[in-house]
Amino acid sequence: MFQAATISASDKPGFYRELVQQLQGLLHGERDAIANAANLSALLFDAMPRLNWAGFYLMRGGELVLGPFQGKPACVRIPVGRGVCGTAVAKRESILVEDVHAFPGHIACDAASRSELVVPLIRDGDVIGVIDLDSPEPGRFDADDQAGIEAIANIYLEASDRF
Ligand code: SME
Repeated sequence: MFQAATISASDKPGFYRELVQQLQGLLHGERDAIANAANLSALLFDAMPRLNWAGFYLMRGGELVLGPFQGKPACVRIPVGRGVCGTAVAKRESILVEDVHAFPGHIACDAASRSELVVPLIRDGDVIGVIDLDSPEPGRFDADDQAGIEAIANIYLEASDRF
């Protein structure tokens, strides 16, 4: 059984070093993309303070469709170019939103969300989905979180087969 350890690092780079170690243990020996996405969502939601949503949207037939997640039920389909998630796909880059109320087109799945970090999953040049993190706290995410979740996304991709 995988035992999630409490992360002790007080600095963000140290936090992500510990999180990466836990993720490598969690994904070891398993390559199923949905199972690994489900467990990664649970790890992020459990380990990262001040989140109200953590999970995946997956590219299906040219649009984002809700994947494994932790948090309140969420909108199921997001067109490319819409909301923070769809914009991250269109731009093929991660997007950090300090105040979702100031992001034109933000899709409010949970009215409590105030800041958001979305990282695209890019495999062989194709965006195959995104990791989406929401927080009820404005400005919850910074450049260290962005770099940390980008590293986490790459570990997930390397450890998992295609959907
Ligand atoms: N806020 C996102 C939609 C997904 S939910 O936050 C889970 C967006 O604007 O794309």
